[in-house]
Amino acid sequence: MVTSSIRFTYLNLAPDFVGAVYSGRGYRDLPQAPLIGKQALISLCYLQQKLNLPKAGLKKYLMDKYLAGDNTTIIKFLKVCPIFMSVPVDPKIYHIVHVDKLASIATDGFLWSDAKLAKRPVTGTVIGMNTIKARRMSELRLKSHPDLFVGQCVPFYFCPRSVMLFVIHRKNSELSYQDGQEPIVHLVADLNAVVKWANANQRRWAFTLSNAGSSYFEDRCDLANLDEIDWSAVQTKLWSDSPTKENKQAEFLLEQQFPWQLIEEVAVINQLTGQLAGQAIAGASHRPTVQIRTPWYY
Ligand SMILES: NC(=O)c1ccc[n+]([C@@H]2O[C@H](COP(=O)([O-])OP(=O)(O)OC[C@H]3O[C@@H](n4cnc5c(N)ncnc54)[C@H](O)[C@@H]3O)[C@@H](O)[C@H]2O)c1
Repeated sequence: MVTSSIRFTYLNLAPDFVGAVYSGRGYRDLPQAPLIGKQALISLCYLQQKLNLPKAGLKKYLMDKYLAGDNTTIIKFLKVCPIFMSVPVDPKIYHIVHVDKLASIATDGFLWSDAKLAKRPVTGTVIGMNTIKARRMSELRLKSHPDLFVGQCVPFYFCPRSVMLFVIHRKNSELSYQDGQEPIVHLVADLNAVVKWANANQRRWAFTLSNAGSSYFEDRCDLANLDEIDWSAVQTKLWSDSPTKENKQAEFLLEQQFPWQLIEEVAVINQLTGQLAGQAIAGASHRPTVQIRTPWYY
């Protein structure tokens, strides 16, 4: 029989996944269950073509192999699966911010949207482009929630080492901020936990398939549509071509405010910024771990 460790190695999913693909068991508790089912099905179709099997016979063929303990075929299946398992089972979201804003965020207990921040005195360094911020606040609305402007939401990316961080790193002349990436920290949260919180607290959320600051983007508000994000673009380090660059900038947006409590980690480029981050949150009741993650920077 195939051991669960083999399944875990390749899929990083719930045990008994192969059985679950056929019976619909095992992954139903995950919010993205329909998606996993869909992706598993695509993997099956791909394998069916590779093995040149009639469609109807594939499930039985694989199940027979599985029951007979034919690891070679099953491993082949499991190796094919991740190609299509492009949506991470446990997606994380990332907000970058100057380290000098951390103390204020931790004390407030929330990250505020740009719209909310516009009504408050400015604390710390502004790293965004003012023209784009203005457009997000007064022009760009979400189709998922037509009365909600992008700028009324707290924005996150689905990857560290974002295009925005690159612009900061290169000290783009359109930015008023010119101190580079060293003082910038990544605030990391778990997408499923955030959506759970938002739904429980009647906060609207959405994700976009590309840059929500551009004149055209699509948005969704159902986790079952997560596979519409171009995950290879999100995860790649080589994004200069189009549409990779636009798709890498897919955003998660949460209406109005984002609880500091949901931040799991503060990632920094080096020890010095790590120390500053640690000092900034030392007095807070919620103190996420501060991690040095140099590969998340340029
Ligand atoms: N920062 C990101 O990771 C991110 C992700 C997706 C999109 N964007 C977009 O990029 C552009 C610029 O980025 P920006 O808005 O992050 O930076 P910004 O400097 O232009 O503006 C707002 C800043 O205030 C900070 N802030 C939020 N709550 C705060 C609090 N309680 N106390 C002190 N400061 C607080 C935010 O983190 C942000 O840095 C915007 O158009 C934005 O929507 C940014």
